[in-house]
Amino acid sequence: MPKRLYIQTIGCQMNVLDSELVTAQLLEEGYELVSGPRTADAILLNTCSVRQHAEDKIYSALGRLKPLKEERPGLIIGILGCMAQKDGPSIFKRAPHVDLVVGPGHLGQLPALLQEVAAGQGPRIAISLDRTEGDRRSVKHSFAQFVPMRSAKSRRVRHQAMVRIMFGCDKFCTYCIVPKVRGPEQSRPAAEIVEEVRRLAADGCLEVTLLGQTVNSYRDATGSETFRLSDLLYKLHDIEGLRRLKFVTNYPNHMTDDLLQAMRDLPKVSPYLHVPAQSGSNAVLERMERNYTVESYREMLERIRAMLPHAAVTSDFIVGFCGETEEEFQQTVDLVRDARFKNSFIFKYSARPGTKAAELFADDVPESTKRRRNNDLLAVQNAICLEDSLPLLGRTLEILVEGPSKASRKRPAKDNTVQLMGRTVHDQIVVFDGSPDLIGHILPVTIENVDAFTLFGRL
Ligand code: 5AD
Ligand code: SF4
Repeated sequence: MPKRLYIQTIGCQMNVLDSELVTAQLLEEGYELVSGPRTADAILLNTCSVRQHAEDKIYSALGRLKPLKEERPGLIIGILGCMAQKDGPSIFKRAPHVDLVVGPGHLGQLPALLQEVAAGQGPRIAISLDRTEGDRRSVKHSFAQFVPMRSAKSRRVRHQAMVRIMFGCDKFCTYCIVPKVRGPEQSRPAAEIVEEVRRLAADGCLEVTLLGQTVNSYRDATGSETFRLSDLLYKLHDIEGLRRLKFVTNYPNHMTDDLLQAMRDLPKVSPYLHVPAQSGSNAVLERMERNYTVESYREMLERIRAMLPHAAVTSDFIVGFCGETEEEFQQTVDLVRDARFKNSFIFKYSARPGTKAAELFADDVPESTKRRRNNDLLAVQNAICLEDSLPLLGRTLEILVEGPSKASRKRPAKDNTVQLMGRTVHDQIVVFDGSPDLIGHILPVTIENVDAFTLFGRL
């Protein structure tokens, strides 16, 4: 019997990558991918816990799957990823039609677990130890590194790939659930990463994005030599066929000069740095336990600007964190104004049970205030985005063509021309008309129009 798989991904790039790896592994096992839940024999939801909103969405998606399971009791429904690790067995109570709960540290066991469920052995759960349930070594051990081989045919996009260089996080920012659900920080051996990227490049991959929760704290000390992220970049830069290298997400305290120097020296490394500040107020940063001050963050920005004058710096901010006063919020606005980030991702604080903030502080900023602060900060950032985009009018930029634009997916092609989208080395989105054959090429595009989020160009 063909085993038809449908997988839906909620959340960050880590999850997108995990879903790709899970899919690759299951294709090897003889599964085939289908495009919707109706025709699937197994439905997997790869989940996110970073904000309550994500979890609400997942539980309502699960609710919608219930009639399908009633119609076809043989259908397997699995919850993977962060919410599986966080909620564990309580998922079965809340949604008894779920068959499988698999945390990020157990994805490698998925083929076997699916088989056990299909054989009628009942619901299965595989999650890692909580960080309070053992010493560091045993907890680390319970979060297995999931690095299966990806065959060329299992990769949806040939010319781009994400490669994880680190697992987990040890920062324990008080608002954040990630260290709990993704476990202790572990760096992959540099040699293994180089080998993976070499294989991807040989297979036609032009751009690799290295992933880590705090990617610039990467440190491989497994052999006689120690490799930092900068050392890894030098090694990867030599790989033939590879054209662009990016890495996300950076932690401000680890933005060391050796990394900035590597970026300056290595033309394949995109001059793009995502370094979340989270807040512009020292009092809030202290409650968040981010371990830096606004002054040291600003000093870091100056070092980046001095060393890499053309680099695009982007940030994340949380508004309405516990106890955030209007004055503290205004300090965040000031930081965004002064820093002139290329972009900022702004989130309303969402209390996460199991985090220090949820235990220690009251979630006391009213929802309406969070919403207003979110909109205010967004307006400041959008104005900067637009101002910074205007000078690009008439310039010709190198674009890696990623695929059809969102709009063109709904519009039929005309004379083999569709609206395509791609990205600059600064991660800015550019749309332009062209033949689908151009997908996967790096091409010059002249910018003819701009708005806050998109550049519109001509080939
Ligand atoms: N509430 C709101 N935003 C959060 N983030 C992490 N945890 C929370 C939370 N509890 C944001 C941070 C992080 C981004 C990925 O998500 O800004 O950088
Ligand atoms: Fe969460 Fe902080 Fe780790 Fe980022 S660095 S994943 S915000 S705990």
